[in-house]
Amino acid sequence: MNRRIAINTGGGDAPGLNAVIRAVALSALNRGWEVFGIRQGYEGLLESEPGGVIALDRDAVRGIGHLGGTILGTTNRGDPFRYPMLQNGQRVPSDVSGKIVERFRELGFDGLVALGGDGSMSIAHRLMQRGLPRVIGVPKTIDNDLKGTNVTFGFATAVETTTEALDRLHSTAQAHRRVMVVEVMGRHAGWIALHAGIAGGADVILIPEIPYRLDRVCEKIEERYKRRRDFAIVVVSEGAKEQGGEETYKAGKDAFKEHAILGGIGERLARQIEGVSGCEARSVVLGHLQRGGSPGAFDRLLAQRLGSAAVRYLAETEQSGMVAVQAGAITLIPMEQVTGGTRGVEVHSDTVETARDVGICFGDEPVGTFLNRIVAHASG
Ligand code: F6P
Repeated sequence: MNRRIAINTGGGDAPGLNAVIRAVALSALNRGWEVFGIRQGYEGLLESEPGGVIALDRDAVRGIGHLGGTILGTTNRGDPFRYPMLQNGQRVPSDVSGKIVERFRELGFDGLVALGGDGSMSIAHRLMQRGLPRVIGVPKTIDNDLKGTNVTFGFATAVETTTEALDRLHSTAQAHRRVMVVEVMGRHAGWIALHAGIAGGADVILIPEIPYRLDRVCEKIEERYKRRRDFAIVVVSEGAKEQGGEETYKAGKDAFKEHAILGGIGERLARQIEGVSGCEARSVVLGHLQRGGSPGAFDRLLAQRLGSAAVRYLAETEQSGMVAVQAGAITLIPMEQVTGGTRGVEVHSDTVETARDVGICFGDEPVGTFLNRIVAHASG
């Protein structure tokens, strides 16, 4: 059956978006289908001028698999249910979902491959309830915090970039006998901090899932200085918080997303560490460097596996859902399993225990054995 499908990319960009676009386009074109890209999330469907929706033929996707960003553009302020429409010089959140569904149908599309994180999946799910024919979601985010899948594309490259930064920061920390506090992305999940922190030989890793105590962090640093290891690397996730404390937000709100932006914990922590331990400290915010650049080999492969699986599900089933990696294999899961909440780090996982075993401090006081901790965690 000849199909006509559309692809869009929503939310923050992540390395691997173009590799998915190429894999979806080629897998579909090789089946004789027509493929189109919607620009800037769903915005392209709202534009009256041509150009909001572009044909993705072989030429359009040639040579893009290794490129960062997305040839379609993306936005994390394009929720069609709260779309910022300009009214009397002010942006007013408006529901344009009806227009999106109407335009999608007008263009004769039978299905959408939506590349995004939890926000994009929940939007796609709601649009289906409004009448969008079929959606196959593809899990994207450097944060790795999507429910229902063991991994998202973009994460491995972000971990690689962060690890490289930690390697570089080691030498300057050592040269100046300083504490380097490195703030990394991840929203309310500590995946990037945990994985890059272990890979990059951090002394302290602070993640949202394990609220920390400042005195424990400083003890660890002081103990290193006593052993004449006169520097320390602290990796802190942007969403980490002290025990009994709150997350740290930047001043002011994001005018488009209407909510506060995480950030600032790195500098605050550096000042606190200096105050308590007397060790000179500097902070570095890696920020959007973690999202930019070419995807690594792992993400290029994962992106293509997910993209072509999305087309296979469109071709061979009538189902909608999100392609997900479970126990190493790709499967299709219902959107309901993805929306409503995110997936944090398992605090009793072997990865966390590995970090503890090699002496990395989480700023907490782990009690008992690994097996005790699993039981304590399971009983809440
Ligand atoms: O979800 C990806 C992410 O990079 C988060 O880690 C971070 O908190 C957020 O997006 C930043 O988004 P923005 O593009 O609005 O700066």
